Amino acid sequence: MNSLFRRKSTNAILNQGGDGEHSALNKVLTVKDLTFFGIAAIIGGGTFSAIGNACFSGGPGVVILYIICAIACGFTAMCYAEFASRVPVSGSAYTYAYVSFGEIFAWIIGWALIMEYSIGNIYIAFSWSGYFTNLLETFHIHLPEWLTINYLSAKEAFTMNKGTEGLAAWKNAPVIGNVRIIFDLPAVIINVLITYLVYRGAKESRNFSNAMVYIKLAIIALVIVVGAFYVDIENWTPFMPNGFGGVMGGVSAVFFAYIGFDAVSTLAEESKNPQRDLPKGMIYSLVICTIVYIILALVLTGMVSYQLLGVSDPLAEIFALKGVKWMLFIVSIAAVVAMTSVMLVFQLGQPRIWMTMARDGLMPKKFAEIHPKFKTPGFATIVTGLVVGLPIFFTNENLVLDFTSIGTLFAFVLVCGGVLMLSPQSEAELAERATKGKFRIPYINSKFIFPALIIVSAGLIQYLFPTFFSDTFRFSEEHFATNISMVVFFILCIVMSVLAFVKNLSLIPLLGLVSCCYLLTGMAVSNWKWFGIWLVIGLVFYFLYGYKNSKLNKLKNN
Ligand code: ALA
Repeated sequence: MNSLFRRKSTNAILNQGGDGEHSALNKVLTVKDLTFFGIAAIIGGGTFSAIGNACFSGGPGVVILYIICAIACGFTAMCYAEFASRVPVSGSAYTYAYVSFGEIFAWIIGWALIMEYSIGNIYIAFSWSGYFTNLLETFHIHLPEWLTINYLSAKEAFTMNKGTEGLAAWKNAPVIGNVRIIFDLPAVIINVLITYLVYRGAKESRNFSNAMVYIKLAIIALVIVVGAFYVDIENWTPFMPNGFGGVMGGVSAVFFAYIGFDAVSTLAEESKNPQRDLPKGMIYSLVICTIVYIILALVLTGMVSYQLLGVSDPLAEIFALKGVKWMLFIVSIAAVVAMTSVMLVFQLGQPRIWMTMARDGLMPKKFAEIHPKFKTPGFATIVTGLVVGLPIFFTNENLVLDFTSIGTLFAFVLVCGGVLMLSPQSEAELAERATKGKFRIPYINSKFIFPALIIVSAGLIQYLFPTFFSDTFRFSEEHFATNISMVVFFILCIVMSVLAFVKNLSLIPLLGLVSCCYLLTGMAVSNWKWFGIWLVIGLVFYFLYGYKNSKLNKLKNN
């Protein structure tokens, strides 16, 4: 039983760096590169596509959700940074969990991260395709609908008899046997191109990514400046037309927009000074993107009524509605560029997580193979391409968006929890970190602050929304499924308050953990069900393969 929780020591991980396996990667990345990688990963499909449905659901009040998600991600980024400064090797949350919680949790996180990096890229590939097709249209190039939409969406359009593109695709698609040939060709092609680029090497990818970030930020600034002229503050009232429930309905979409800062940590082995630079890269990129998002959300909801934003290309739509044709073209280019860079960073991250898991024996050895010429994890990169590429044929956007957000939040919760469980460092170790400029999460004792925060928040909620608690604690059949996650959250808050008091927990990781858990309460029951099934499949895989082949297992037996 104990062996399920066997942990890797930080020193063992660092020592691995000298065994020749790790040193095979090129150490070329600086703070600027890492910050750019962060921005490249963060601003993408969430900003250009998913924001539309979030605004439609929550109205202008969606700005609150952007702030809540920024707070949760900010605390989590600091936890990632603490880990990155202590454990500077590839692997992201996976490696961190291996150090703090033990092997089985590490496996679970590694498994959940597949959702963030690979499944997330499926969403972005779909969104990319939408804007790319718009762009082609501006050059009067028209692809047939059955090559620009996924099968599920077309089928849904046919079943519900709504959605022009889907209906046209269903009607005009070639049929082989009984099967209609409908798939999203641009999404497939962009995945193949990105996989090839990543396979060729991090340095080439980095140059490409830096250039794209400049273009992306410049164009988003233009969108904000031009858009600001069209803001009508009347559109901000009512602020929450569908109540706070409507705002929380956009949680998958808004959170998705923030995912990516953590991808920076997967580049530890390719950065020049990971312990100093990784934390900076993560925090700088998150701060920059948060500022951009809050302004963008205000501009977007100020320009038109929230009811007009429920489309998959909202940034193009607002300018179309205002008749600013030249911006349509620019926004489409920016969207294509932005999403390409996000895909690039995610596609760089996934193989590096698998590579680390394979080195630990939890995945087959082949995943750790480094390409002799390009110095990249070649096999793992190709498998990533397949994991992203194949589902493009049989999933749709909403499914993968929800899946990505729940999996990533779950990983974030474990990272914050992991920092709470890290053993305190000695004075000498702390002094060494300070002299070398390595990041350290500031310790603030949560003993009284956390319980006080919980009591004050509960009081405020009761004051502002008098029926909130009575509604939440209703367990009739129809309310049970929607209320249960909130009830579990309350219990967690009480348990953590007691632990904070007894164990003097560090406040920042504690707030990270609780805020990510709060965002999880916004996930629909069906998401939880699918996520549960995904976890069970992962555990079966672990017990059949990873448990036996783990290097720690072999060390014990020798
Ligand atoms: N944050 C990334 C995006 O919005 C995943 O595309």
